[in-house]
Formats: sequence, C-alpha cells, structure tokens
Amino acid sequence: PDGRRLVIAVDGPAAAGKGTLARALAGCLGLPYLDTGLLYRVVGRRMLDAGLDPSADASGEAATLRAEDLARGDLRTPEVDRAASRVAGQPAVRAALLQFQRSFGAAHGAVLDGRDIGTVIFPDAAVKLFISASHRARAERRWLQLNAHRSPADGEREAEIAAVEAELVARDAADSGREVAPLRAADDAVRIDTDRLDADAVLAEALRIVRARVG
Ligand code: DC
Repeated sequence: PDGRRLVIAVDGPAAAGKGTLARALAGCLGLPYLDTGLLYRVVGRRMLDAGLDPSADASGEAATLRAEDLARGDLRTPEVDRAASRVAGQPAVRAALLQFQRSFGAAHGAVLDGRDIGTVIFPDAAVKLFISASHRARAERRWLQLNAHRSPADGEREAEIAAVEAELVARDAADSGREVAPLRAADDAVRIDTDRLDADAVLAEALRIVRARVG
C-alpha cells in the first residue's frame, strides 16, 4: 500500500498483542510507530516521582511531553501500569496528549497503538484493528514478559499468573468503564482474536486486512 499519510489504528486491552503487531506492521509498511500507552505511562511515572496521587487532578505540566521522556527505562513496572491507568481517566491529561498523537500521525502517516486511536484520536484512520485475547492468554503472555529469566515451581507459577490475570481484569474494567475515551472497538474496526495465533500469523492477518482496505 501507499504509505504516505496512511494512518493505522491498533486498539485493544493490555497484553493482547497490540504492541507486537503494531511495531511489526509499521516495519513492514515503512511507517513510523507510536506506542501511545507510553505517553500515559510517562505522566503516571511523573506523578509517582513527585509523590502525587495519580487519581488526583494531574497538572497540565505533568502531561507535557518531552521526547527523551519516552526513552525512560522505568515505565513498565506494575506500579506504573496502575498509575498510567489512573491518569488516563482524567480528561485534562487526555486533552493534553491529543495533539501530540495527531501531529505524530499526520506528519508522515503512522501505526499507533492504544485504546482510543480509532474512536477518538484518528476516527478517520484508513484502517482500524481491534486486537483481543482471553484473560488467560493475556496473563500468560504478560507473566512471561516479566519472568522470562525464572522457572518457578508449577504451583508458584500458577499463582503468579492468576495474580497477573486479576490485575489485567481490574485494569480492563477501569479502562473500559471510564467516562472519557473508554476502551472500545470503533464500529468500523476489524477484530483479530490472538488466542490461537502466533505473532507471525497475527501480522499476516493484519497485512491482509490493510491490503483489502487500502489496496
Ligand atoms: O498500552 P499500555 O498498557 O502501555 O497503556 C497504559 C495505560 O494507559 C492503560 O491502562 C490505558 C491507558 N491508555 C489509554 O487510556 N489510551 C491509550 N491510547 C493508551 C493507553
């Protein structure tokens, strides 16, 4: 497909495989890639660093982004997962991050992944994908990401996966239940369930959808 100004929205819940897909898709199509969850993580991290409650009104200042912030290494901890989800519920934070995302996509086209790309940020995106998977599959993947270096006994592993699953379910409820820009599939999004597909198969399916939509 013609990559100029092509915007592809990849939305879905945490650990469903959005990031893996969106990054690969961007690589295949020669488009810039933006992980928009990282923007909310930066704001959440700042609130924690400042000793502020992420659920309280975040100042506009906390939502001002500098490019170097996105390269911070401490944005993927469980503590930041929760803080990001909380700041993401604040209209002022979402409003402050909107323009950054639109400018990023409008400059050269892009693949953006998040929760509201197809519904709010780029409602006119040429292609919208909604990536989902069962709670169990998502919890196993997230656990593996965090624990690739360990091999705990089966019982311990099961208990840890169950704990990760409970966190994911809670975060889904918060992300889907909030008033501003809740997580939901756009009416014109194409759904991909990744339970029984590996990363290559998800990419192949997404490329098929992109070609069907934009030729
Ligand atoms: O995709 P992620 O897990 O890195 O996202 C972190 C949090 O940010 C998530 O709980 C929901 C929020 N988020 C959002 O509200 N809108 C987006 N476009 C991306 C993320």
